[in-house]
Amino acid sequence: MKIISVLALLLLVSPTLGFWSTGHMIIARIAHEEIKAKDPKYHATITKEIELLKDFAQEEINPFVESAVWADDNKAIAWGAFSNWHFVDTPVIAEGFEGEYEVDNANATWAIYEMRKTLKNMNKPKFNSGLALSFAWRYLIHLVGDIHQPLHASALYSDQFPHGDRGGNSFKITYPADKQVKNLHALWDSCVDQYGSIWAPVSDEEWNLLGKYSDDIKSEYPRSRVDKRVKVLDEREWAKESNKIATEVVYADIEPNTTPSEEYITRGREVVNEQLAVAGYRLADLMLQLRHYVSEGEEVESFMTE
Ligand SMILES: *[C@@H]1O[C@H](CO)[C@@H](O)[C@H](O)[C@H]1NC(C)=O
Repeated sequence: MKIISVLALLLLVSPTLGFWSTGHMIIARIAHEEIKAKDPKYHATITKEIELLKDFAQEEINPFVESAVWADDNKAIAWGAFSNWHFVDTPVIAEGFEGEYEVDNANATWAIYEMRKTLKNMNKPKFNSGLALSFAWRYLIHLVGDIHQPLHASALYSDQFPHGDRGGNSFKITYPADKQVKNLHALWDSCVDQYGSIWAPVSDEEWNLLGKYSDDIKSEYPRSRVDKRVKVLDEREWAKESNKIATEVVYADIEPNTTPSEEYITRGREVVNEQLAVAGYRLADLMLQLRHYVSEGEEVESFMTE
């Protein structure tokens, strides 16, 4: 299969801004509570690090959790340099389709890897930079969420979408329950029409709602239920899982220009809620690992093979 640059395509059609905002904050809320319970001192340290860029954000109650949508705020102010970091559109190829697909190297897997590397490097005194620390935490928290959204790790290639459906953005659907949901990507960004849309700054009422949502998700999917998945702390594997979900669930049993069935919505919500739980636990475990001291001269771990 020939690989061509996706840049031209991306310039033509900027991706929809996710209503995944609430999903992002639920994931961050789970991680925030887990880290606070396990290591309050470390939690206080990384909260301070995240807060370093607070003046350039809209955070009110809890920067750790609210910073989860900062990366989308940056898209909204037309700071577009990092827009491709939000997805890794791995092809889902429809039966019988033969054609080309595109790869973009500055994608979500790459960006998560870079943020991890940056955070590890910041443990070395000679590299210590508040700007890099805060920036990398904020993007890490956001991108771990994105990569668990199946349509941030997939694009359908078929006779109807010979150039890919851009993570479901071109896959039009009708969804009478929420007229804003005009395509498959939006449906999945909205956590399959759950939890509404909460942006920073978060009000007290919204903060309580986020707490309720994350508690419900944690009690439905406690660590014990998903521990096998949570142990996997490799972003390339996360992208593969999401792509598998896209193949087996997201693109199954739905045709363009139709309304998703009740079964589709029910199944989709289950899948999303498990993804939110798994992403929250993984984010907690990853964040707990990253700021352990690396001595001068020690090479930063490299797990990405090219
Ligand atoms: C994502 O980026 C990595 C590293 O830059 C690259 O190896 C991989 O092929 C990219 N994947 C897609 C689907 O674009």
